[in-house]
Amino acid sequence: MMLSSLPARFFSTSAVKESTKVAVLGAAGGIGQPLSLLLKSSPLVDHLSLYDVVNTPGVAADLSHIPSKAKVTGHVGAENLGEALKGAKVVVIPAGVPRKPGMTRDDLFRVNAGIVKGLAEAAAEHCPDAHLLVISNPVNSTVPIVAEVLKKAGVYSPKRLFGVTTLDVLRARTFVAGKKDVDPTTLKVPVIGGHAGTTILPLLSQNSAGVTFSDEERDQLTHRIQFGGDEVVQAKAGTGSATLSMAQAGAEFTEALLAALNGSDGIVECAFVESPLTDAPFFASPIKLGREGVEEILELGQITPFEQKLLDELVPVLVKSAQAGVDFVNSSE
Ligand code: NAD
Ligand code: LMR
Repeated sequence: MMLSSLPARFFSTSAVKESTKVAVLGAAGGIGQPLSLLLKSSPLVDHLSLYDVVNTPGVAADLSHIPSKAKVTGHVGAENLGEALKGAKVVVIPAGVPRKPGMTRDDLFRVNAGIVKGLAEAAAEHCPDAHLLVISNPVNSTVPIVAEVLKKAGVYSPKRLFGVTTLDVLRARTFVAGKKDVDPTTLKVPVIGGHAGTTILPLLSQNSAGVTFSDEERDQLTHRIQFGGDEVVQAKAGTGSATLSMAQAGAEFTEALLAALNGSDGIVECAFVESPLTDAPFFASPIKLGREGVEEILELGQITPFEQKLLDELVPVLVKSAQAGVDFVNSSE
């Protein structure tokens, strides 16, 4: 979905619209730059605040020449992080290192856990009511890290913390549409679980076009969606992971959330949130977004025995990844 083609309900005239500051942390990076470009053109953003440890003044100056509503400010270095965050309604976090071929997302934990923890501490101090959208990997652990930091600061709300799994949904739509000759722009495929390999579970049986699959097609599609990130990592051959498709995914999720916060009704997106659906403390599934963030975590609906088996296998992995995040915060005090 192009941002400019968001459904009309996103711009409902009955919606109450407040001034909206969106901060991007890691804004000079491979995801941060195209994500900021897309958000600069969003009619739902009044102030785009760009933070990174390098290069943000240049990125901000560049984007500021685009004639759209959002004012752009650039903030570089830890001493300017507070200013970048102050008053932010939404904070999007793509800060951290990406994978190289041969690495798993968990291999990024060593570096990214500390980066995300530091940024969450700053958000807890400077914008405690903001909605935090975590892109940095491993999402299955970085989201629990942010939750734990916010809990310790006494400002945690499960309605306002999201791991961004929209790229898994974009891949599911694209790959299914490619195989079955349906329109990817209107197709819906829920993707549940987490954001790493076999923790990613596309519910192909619930695709909105009602297309059916042979067992072989189902197995191939499921595997391709689960390991879509690896396709890009391999193709980029050591220079990084998905950035452009992730920017599109991050902008789509940010805009959907902003629209819901502004009062647009009936917005459902998949995201990795604190969830009662399984034994895992955090779990991705379709959620209804509202004026306060997570309004309702929707039931999973009817799933096939194949999907149930994969679900049973992935839940313990998510439990372990979440615990690693909690342990990291508690051990680094
Ligand atoms: P990148 O290296 O191109 O950019 C990361 C940026 O983060 C850099 O500009 C760097 O300076 C900045 N940074 C580092 N430490 C920082 C700090 N303390 N504060 C602020 N900024 C800091 O990497 P990328 O390709 O943009 O990927 C970023 C992250 O997103 C990676 O962890 C990657 O695995 C993850 N990712 C997640 C998804 C998803 O679906 N959730 C998809 C793609 C990538
Ligand atoms: C993705 O799914 O593309 C990201 O999580 C980046 C990666 O490491 O694969």
